[in-house]
Amino acid sequence: MKEIINVALPKGRLGEKVYDIFDKAGYSCPSILETNRKLIFESEENSIRYFWVKPSDVAIYVERGAADIGVAGKDILLEYEPDVYELLDLNMGKCRMCVAGPKGFRDNTARALRVATKFPNIAKQYYASQSRQIDIIKLNGSIELAPILKMSDVIVDIVETGTTLKENNLAVLEEILPISARLISNKVSYKFKNKEIMELCESINSVCGFEGEN
Ligand code: PRP
Repeated sequence: MKEIINVALPKGRLGEKVYDIFDKAGYSCPSILETNRKLIFESEENSIRYFWVKPSDVAIYVERGAADIGVAGKDILLEYEPDVYELLDLNMGKCRMCVAGPKGFRDNTARALRVATKFPNIAKQYYASQSRQIDIIKLNGSIELAPILKMSDVIVDIVETGTTLKENNLAVLEEILPISARLISNKVSYKFKNKEIMELCESINSVCGFEGEN
């Protein structure tokens, strides 16, 4: 009998697109499309069980083995460095990790640069590589407010369409790295459900090759 695979999907628009890929790859679970507040959906026929989790929590579920596999942004993987395997770049959920700030911002290197961010580790590593001293201000959202209110000089954040920056009179100052959604696996599951996970990976990869966009 086939082992059931437990999948942590990121709640929201990306998660819906990801489910679409799984569906096309032969892992459909029609009950997931019902509009209700349920968080777990299972298809016995396709040996798959899905959980909707907060996007930034996917890697935790996978690292701890509550989910065998999951889909997480490269930003989360770089920030938290979970002990998981990264199996595939899904080529979706594409955006850029950037330094942004007021247009025409000029860095005063005589003092530490004040950086507001949801990604303190990514920011620290980036500025360490530039040998620039920084003062991190860790926030959990609406990061763009920090330089507008002069609480920070710049922000390190995700830029997707650039609309949020534009509408707040801010601009990209430096690009740190490109981001996209990744298929990740728990290390123990990878060993003990290897056949099922490899099979899923191949099917997803063949769908993604055509579907991967944005
Ligand atoms: C993210 C990010 C930016 C915005 C970028 O925020 O932190 O604020 O999206 O997208 P854009 O370039 O397409 O405008 P999110 O929507 O996750 O909300 P948050 O402010 O609560 O973090």
